[in-house]
Amino acid sequence: MEVNDRGYQLIKQELFRHLRTDSNAYKDSYLLRRIRARMRKLGISDFMDYYRLIRKNKEELDDLLLTVAINVTEFFRDPIVWKTLERKVLPELISFKKEHYSTTIRVWSAACSTGQEPYSIAMMFNEFLGDDIRRYKLSILATDIDREALNTAIRGAYPKEVVEKSVPKHLIRKYFLPMGDHYRVSPQLRRYVKFQHFNLLSNEYPKGFDMIFIRNVLIYMTKQAQEEVFRRLYDSLEDHGYLILGKTETILGSASRLFKLHDLVARIYVKKPEVV
Ligand SMILES: C[S@@+](CC[C@H](N)C(=O)[O-])C[C@H]1O[C@@H](n2cnc3c(N)ncnc32)[C@H](O)[C@@H]1O
Repeated sequence: MEVNDRGYQLIKQELFRHLRTDSNAYKDSYLLRRIRARMRKLGISDFMDYYRLIRKNKEELDDLLLTVAINVTEFFRDPIVWKTLERKVLPELISFKKEHYSTTIRVWSAACSTGQEPYSIAMMFNEFLGDDIRRYKLSILATDIDREALNTAIRGAYPKEVVEKSVPKHLIRKYFLPMGDHYRVSPQLRRYVKFQHFNLLSNEYPKGFDMIFIRNVLIYMTKQAQEEVFRRLYDSLEDHGYLILGKTETILGSASRLFKLHDLVARIYVKKPEVV
């Protein structure tokens, strides 16, 4: 079994020493696939040979780190989710805010990759609230473990075809500025989003959110690591808070008692405040 291969185990240790995370948090099937892909590219077939290479060659180690923290994403990924948020969740959240005379809206995009998700959130709120957005203090915290992805996110400039593929034309006109063969997110939208480096396997989570997006990252983690993340996210959400997972993800094991399913298709959950 490849999982027991000494070379593979050493690669794993080295990888997680650099990611400063628990080496048991990611699924072996996922790690093996990513490591094998790098090895194939370099024409290496033995794990031990690849281990020796990453010990010597810092650049290769960095490349491996990036393939593990795979950051595929897009604007308005899974349109049905965004439609559900707009039709069902935002009206509820805004009525709640009005009832409670609250004007702050705090959202966390907890594995934001290169920034398309938090900028989509900012567009969604702007579109939904229109001029009323001025009455609210909207802040979107966007975090990821991958610093390179965060740098792209902070720049907020994307190749034109990336933007045109998934952002409707009228929103491009409104929220992007053309810049050669790129579009840059306008300062008007960028000011709502704050980017920060954050590892989901750490203990200290930020708190006080109305909504947390944790999409397409937990699939790479083991059941136990996922349960711990869900427990911490529970404390990070306000009592009325919403948790938005990726379209094929669910809450596993004992963590499922912490949240109630709010929309099955869009994988939106709400916090069950009564659970201790
Ligand atoms: C597939 S992307 C998801 C992006 C976006 N949420 C979406 O659904 O389109 C997964 C992201 O999770 C990040 N990630 C992986 N492990 C992480 C960890 N332990 N802490 C924080 N982010 C992590 C990766 O760097 C990557 O950018």
